Amino acid sequence: MCPSSPESAEPRPAEQHAAVRQTARQHFDQWAHSYDRSWLNELVFFPTLRACQEEIVRWQQWHGHGPFRLLDVGCGTGTLITSLAAWPDAELLVGLDYSPMMARRLAEKMAGSPHAHKLHAVVADSERLPFADGSFDVVTCCNSFHHYPHQAAVIGGFQRVLRPGGVLILVDGFRDNVIGWLVFDVAVTWYEQQVHHAAWSAVRDMIDAAGFATLRQRKLGVLAPLLVNVAVR
Ligand SMILES: C[S@@+](CC[C@H](N)C(=O)[O-])C[C@H]1O[C@@H](n2cnc3c(N)ncnc32)[C@H](O)[C@@H]1O
Repeated sequence: MCPSSPESAEPRPAEQHAAVRQTARQHFDQWAHSYDRSWLNELVFFPTLRACQEEIVRWQQWHGHGPFRLLDVGCGTGTLITSLAAWPDAELLVGLDYSPMMARRLAEKMAGSPHAHKLHAVVADSERLPFADGSFDVVTCCNSFHHYPHQAAVIGGFQRVLRPGGVLILVDGFRDNVIGWLVFDVAVTWYEQQVHHAAWSAVRDMIDAAGFATLRQRKLGVLAPLLVNVAVR
C-alpha cells in the first residue's frame, strides 16, 4: 500500500490502542509523586478501597477463609495492596501498573513495610498479564478500567489468571445517572482524554462473555458515583 494514501494515514486500531496506553502512562508518571495527596482520595479512591476490602471479606465468608493471592491491576501507588498487607490471610499481594513511576512509588512503600515479603510491584499492561492461568484467588481493578482501550480483552485476562471460585472486584466510574454522566463522561473525559467509562450493562455483558459464573453489580456513592462489579469465576 502506498505510504501516503489516506488509508495508511489513518491510525490502525493497534496504533490507536498503543497511543491511548502511552497517554495514560505519561499522565500517571507525572501525577505519581503527588498522587497520594490528591483531593480525589476522599471522594473516590478511599471509598473504592473500602468497597474492595468489604467485598473480599464477603467473598471469604461465602467461599471460605484461608490464604489468598491477590492481583491489583492498575494499582497506582499501591494503596489497596499495602492496606491489605497486614491481613493474616493475605499471602501474596501483587500490584501491576503500566506507569513505571506509579510502580516506583509502590516499591518505595514496600521497602518501608513490615510485610514487604508479601508485596510485589510489576510494570505491565492490563491487556497482557504476565502470569500463568489460575495464579490468583482475587483480582481487583479500581478506577483504572476506563483507561483500557480494549476492555473486553482485559476482562478475559482477569478471568484467565483467576482460579475457579476466585473473585474479580472491578470498580470504576458509574456513568448511568445524570451526576455520573456529568462527572465521568463530561468532566473526567474532558480532563483525561481518550478514556471510556463503560455503561453498567456493557460491563455486565463483557463479564458474562468472559465466562464468569456469577456477577453482582451495585452503585456506590452520590457525588462521584462508582460502579462496583463483583464476579466469581
Ligand atoms: C486513577 S489511577 C487508580 C489507582 C488505584 N487503583 C486507585 O484506585 O487509587 C489509574 C491507574 O491505572 C493505571 N493504568 C492506566 N492504563 C493502564 C494499563 N493499560 N495497564 C495497567 N495500568 C494502567 C495508571 O497508570 C494509574 O496508576
